[in-house]
Amino acid sequence: MENRIVFQNYKEISADEIGEALQFAVGQIVRNLDVFTDKFQNAYSVNQFYQPIENVDWTTGFWTGEIWLAYEYALEKGMDAAKQLRRAGEIQVDDFLNRIEKKIQVDHHDMGFLYSPSCVAGYKLIGSEKGKRAAILAADQLITRYHPVGEFIQAWGAMDEPGNYRLIIDCLLNLPLLYWASEETGNTVYHDIAQKHIHTAVSNVIREDYSTWHTFFFDMKTGAPDHGATCQGYRDGSAWARGQAWGVYGMALAYKYTKNPEYISIFHKVTEYFLRHLPKDLVPFWDLEFTDGDEQPRDSSSASIAACGMLEMAKYLEKEDADYYIRIAGQLVKALWDFYAVKDSEVSNGLVLHSTYSNHSPYNTCNHYGVDECNSWGDYFYMEALTRLRKDWKLYW
Ligand code: GLY
Repeated sequence: MENRIVFQNYKEISADEIGEALQFAVGQIVRNLDVFTDKFQNAYSVNQFYQPIENVDWTTGFWTGEIWLAYEYALEKGMDAAKQLRRAGEIQVDDFLNRIEKKIQVDHHDMGFLYSPSCVAGYKLIGSEKGKRAAILAADQLITRYHPVGEFIQAWGAMDEPGNYRLIIDCLLNLPLLYWASEETGNTVYHDIAQKHIHTAVSNVIREDYSTWHTFFFDMKTGAPDHGATCQGYRDGSAWARGQAWGVYGMALAYKYTKNPEYISIFHKVTEYFLRHLPKDLVPFWDLEFTDGDEQPRDSSSASIAACGMLEMAKYLEKEDADYYIRIAGQLVKALWDFYAVKDSEVSNGLVLHSTYSNHSPYNTCNHYGVDECNSWGDYFYMEALTRLRKDWKLYW
């Protein structure tokens, strides 16, 4: 690889630190079960503390995913908490089945974010039949958002509104649910839609310099690509940090499921753009336009998501390239552990501080909330990255 970014003199997280970090995370999750077994965590903390909500947001699967990751750890370490964690996971899976059967807030594309770390995980880990049923219903729901003309899955809103006729880069993480559904049911329709969406997404959201558009619009009549636009990034031409991180993990997953070699070279370049725009402590500002010296909030969740993507892609690369990404992922997680991770439950009931959900700027179209707080996917992917560094993890995605 040319232009390889190397972070000289940065340590990787050690095995002892991984153990310490997971031990604290599992303890924090078990402490949270009193409140968050029948309820779910809000997408983001307020003053570093999550409040309980019903199972209604696109983000609730991450909390259930944390419970399953904690369960895996507790079981392997022979901890008493394993039983309680398993029961909590089962209760949450029941809730997800109820949600999809009653179609509660499922009119959007985030079925994978919701149902992979909760119900597919429950099925894979403990053979939950309710989890399997819920996840297949969620896959059925997701494919209702497919537009055969433009060959993409529409992210948000009514399907016949021109203002909603777009895909977003985040959706790459919703597609493993479709591959899983095809494998489980033998029905190739899910797989075929995922394949088409990936092709359309990759052909349009990645710019010439391998930065990424957050969202991309299509012509409603012809399905032809129209234009890119940001929603949560700083401005249209900038690279929203989390969008770029979804691109890193999304390309790794795209390769896992399609084995299209073109996606490996795109992965290298999208990742290189992300790494090249990191500040000195390796944890990105919320938009990659910003760097050291800018008075802007961080998005620590992007570092965890990118680390998971690099660790996934490392499985499919030659040793030299694989080692390169494993090392960088270890450096990113070390930075999170040293400077961003919660280490005291009096400070927060989350796992990682300084994430940004939705930061309004004069040039974007999003509302303002969850800025410089914990958020549930930041916590989930941090734990996933630690788990991936600890063992050969069988992924939920
Ligand atoms: N998928 C929405 C977000 O990353 O904020």
